[in-house]
Amino acid sequence: MDSSGHLNLVSLAFFLCLLACGGRVLSEGSKLPPPLISEFDAVSSSQRQAWLDIWNTHAWNMLRALQDARGNGQLHIYMNGDSTFRQQKNFLCNVLQPGFTGGKWPLDYKVLNNQHESSCYNSELKIRVTYVNNSCCDTERLAYLLHRDTDPAGKENPPAWKPRTMGQSGMLRDPAMAETNAGTQDLEAEAADVEADTEMRLVVYLGCGLHLMHLGRARPFECLQQQYGYVETIQEFAQAAARLYPGSLQMFMTTNNVCESNFGSPYSDVLKEAAADPQGFLRQCVEIANMTTGPLQGNIPALTQACREGILMSHGAASLRRRMLLALKQENERRGREDHVGLVDAYALTEGQCWASQWSDGRHYAFVVPMVVMEMIATMHRQLLQTH
Ligand SMILES: *[C@@H]1O[C@H](CO)[C@@H](O)[C@H](O)[C@H]1NC(C)=O
Ligand SMILES: *[C@@H]1O[C@H](CO)[C@@H](O)[C@H](O)[C@H]1NC(C)=O
Repeated sequence: MDSSGHLNLVSLAFFLCLLACGGRVLSEGSKLPPPLISEFDAVSSSQRQAWLDIWNTHAWNMLRALQDARGNGQLHIYMNGDSTFRQQKNFLCNVLQPGFTGGKWPLDYKVLNNQHESSCYNSELKIRVTYVNNSCCDTERLAYLLHRDTDPAGKENPPAWKPRTMGQSGMLRDPAMAETNAGTQDLEAEAADVEADTEMRLVVYLGCGLHLMHLGRARPFECLQQQYGYVETIQEFAQAAARLYPGSLQMFMTTNNVCESNFGSPYSDVLKEAAADPQGFLRQCVEIANMTTGPLQGNIPALTQACREGILMSHGAASLRRRMLLALKQENERRGREDHVGLVDAYALTEGQCWASQWSDGRHYAFVVPMVVMEMIATMHRQLLQTH
């Protein structure tokens, strides 16, 4: 038998097993087998590059398809979030501007971590991506784009910066004022704005989660109030985005799952202590949290709840996801279809994928980042074409 015939037999057997074995695994309701790559470091640098190239090509194709479908109008994706958003920005910007990460593997979570604001643009696709660090869903930080006429590098009037209805001075235009002052120039400006609006779309992509979780004394709460009132936090953030950027499309991302089995010292030590004495661990958290001078100071039941729900572990991430889904369900019931808030479920994409996260990290999943971005592009595509 020649080698190609042998290969065909092997693939046939493999295919049959996929149907038979795979079908049985699923019907028994048990888990799928873990990926063949057992750990992050087992992937060589050439394999890392190959993985990146595969997803780069796919991302480019999907962005091209999106822009073809919407007539190649300017598109600005404005991201507000933590390092998991920065990773997505790095991946996307490396697609739009090859070499963006200066020779470093763009999926590494440490790349460009000193850039708190960052932006890139591709003139063929007419797509701009801007990232602003905002790990606690801070509404004032969300206004970054509104208050600037230049990109983070200081370039004036870069393409696809903001829709003109936001005003050149960065102030929202009051429709009532426009009525009373309506001279010819204003009417012309109005018409130009309408034209610019149909051409330029702003997509606001938001989330917070990892910095809302604690690990006792090894990692006190960074944003306690947001953890305690997460449903309201998400709804207020969504409403602020709608107010600051009228006509924009909105999407949220559930926070990555946490893979605590990847933690190294001191996080792993704290987890061992917590397992041995859960009540003591909780008491310690409440004590530390009670020292902050926020509105929750002295509110022991609230602090206890935040401490219990907000542990930097898989169940803490699951709790945030559950509450984000609830927040967006309620928010979408309040809004019309045109204003629908989209969802990118990074939690679901990272669950059970500990191999993709570096040892002693357990929060960033380098190899899964392109998949999260692809889900973002697909969500954006669906929504942009629905509302056009
Ligand atoms: C974001 O970046 C600014 C500097 O631009 C810094 O002062 C701030 O601490 C950072 N915030 C977060 C939440 O990382
Ligand atoms: C919490 O803080 C308040 C105000 O500082 C204080 O009176 C109270 O004793 C503290 N409670 C605990 C359990 O630490």
